[in-house]
Amino acid sequence: MEFLEKLRKYLVNHIGIFRVNAVRMYRRLFNDQHQLTSKTYSDRYPLLFTEASKAIGDTDKKPVKLLSFGCSTGEECFSLKKYFPAARIIGADINRLNLLIAKHRNSSPDISFIYSKPKNLLQAAPYDAIFCLSVLCRWEDTKDLPNCGAIYPFDKFDKTVQELAALIVKGGLFIIYNSNFRFEDTAAFRDFEIVRTNLPNSGFVHKFDRFNNRITEDHVHCIYRKLT
Ligand SMILES: C[S@@+](CC[C@H](N)C(=O)[O-])C[C@H]1O[C@@H](n2cnc3c(N)ncnc32)[C@H](O)[C@@H]1O
Repeated sequence: MEFLEKLRKYLVNHIGIFRVNAVRMYRRLFNDQHQLTSKTYSDRYPLLFTEASKAIGDTDKKPVKLLSFGCSTGEECFSLKKYFPAARIIGADINRLNLLIAKHRNSSPDISFIYSKPKNLLQAAPYDAIFCLSVLCRWEDTKDLPNCGAIYPFDKFDKTVQELAALIVKGGLFIIYNSNFRFEDTAAFRDFEIVRTNLPNSGFVHKFDRFNNRITEDHVHCIYRKLT
């Protein structure tokens, strides 16, 4: 009993340290991670894939190189191959288990998977199109929040899109769907133009401005073409 009482007092006195360490550990583990969950399925965005293939044009013959950033267990890459038959497709993910599953399922010599870190992404660059679908967000953690800064700050989104934008060829596409922020609010956007599509919106994930405040007006754009 005496031991348990001592343990209780110790825990009560040190709870602050445990909290700080838990936050540090969390940051170390998830610092580069955007969306935490891995939900995906085959042909998840048929209209978006159709619009992207129209924007690239002649996809039956064009040997384009595509990056699926946040490819999860590979379904997105396998689906993209149907819309871009002549493409070489690279799937990148930060979750090694997802990559193992994706590699195990893959039978196409035109599809490969890499661990998502700047060096690997750069090695396989440049890309004719980068797909960031349901990855540049924290969903549903940010659902209905008035401000998402504590969970998923704009700076994190801004930094990643800047790094990815630099890996796209001139005339190439940046496709961002189901993100917490608008690409138009980033500095990288100045090198891009909006590709008009038939898509009704840029996804269901709630949007925030560059100050992390919730915005409720519709946002429709999700395909951008690099100008320079
Ligand atoms: C919800 S899944 C989306 C999968 C697929 N893009 C789709 O829309 O069906 C989000 C994926 O993004 C991955 N992810 C999160 N942060 C990442 C990062 N920094 N680099 C690459 N992948 C990341 C997660 O591991 C997860 O597999």
